[in-house]
Amino acid sequence: MAAHCKISSVFRANLFKDKVAIVTGGGTGIGKAITQELLFLGCKVMIASRKLDRLSESAKVLQSQISNKNAQLDHMQCNIRQEDQVKDLISTTVSRFGRLDFLVNNGGGQFPSPASDIKLKGWNAVIETNLTGTFLCCREAHNQWMAEHGGVIVNIIADMWKGFPMMSHTGAARAAVDNLTKSLAIEWASHGVRINSVAPGSSIYSETAAANYGSPEIFNRSIPGIPAKRLGTVEEISAAVCFLLSPAASFISGETLKVDAGASLYSTMWEIPDHNRIPAYKWETDNVDSNNDNDNGSKSKL
Ligand code: ADE
Repeated sequence: MAAHCKISSVFRANLFKDKVAIVTGGGTGIGKAITQELLFLGCKVMIASRKLDRLSESAKVLQSQISNKNAQLDHMQCNIRQEDQVKDLISTTVSRFGRLDFLVNNGGGQFPSPASDIKLKGWNAVIETNLTGTFLCCREAHNQWMAEHGGVIVNIIADMWKGFPMMSHTGAARAAVDNLTKSLAIEWASHGVRINSVAPGSSIYSETAAANYGSPEIFNRSIPGIPAKRLGTVEEISAAVCFLLSPAASFISGETLKVDAGASLYSTMWEIPDHNRIPAYKWETDNVDSNNDNDNGSKSKL
């Protein structure tokens, strides 16, 4: 997104004045849009990512776009897989801005692969980034600030409701975060913490995602499976996140908001070729042994 792009919001100006947010992965794609909208609404935002060069470049662009005099931006390197770095991210943000109201767990990563080819190292890396990293950020935000002062957390997950073929590692991790969200909503409610998830459809277009997939064309191929018959935008994800962070969602916790125009209800993008590898169970072919050792005359295999 170019430095001169026009940033706006459906929410009222200064909705997040005097609020402080951390957005992991806040320099690119969906995270960047969330950061832009939070800044537009007067929030102070710390963006964090593993790759400092790319993050610093994004921070420069984001800084140049700030139009709200109450907004402030800072950035710091943080590998969310490293417990000490996560602890440092939270404590540095609190020292820098004096408080921590919002945590948006958007940082994550995966690679496409059939499950049968995923090596343990790759599996562990994806689980550690998407599940363990999210857990560590939640725990430290809670323990260092929100347990005493309250706060709002939003976890960005994925459309894995029908499984996630070719992305089984991230599907498993995101489903786990969906459940983690519910556990923490209950455990931390009495501390004034609300926590929800946003599940973007797999067809949210961003320049970052297009670059990761190598071509924008792959996005267009998914359009027939989307009830809206168009791709989603990063702005549409950001609006959902800002809603959940805002007082408009003050009675919503432990919930996951799908932002996919109903695509997860409509179809799966995964086509299974014709095959006969799952034969039917039939009495006459499967139970040839006539030994009776049950009262009802059947021999259970179980
Ligand atoms: N984005 C992708 N992987 C990450 C990680 N390990 N830490 C922070 N942001 C990330």
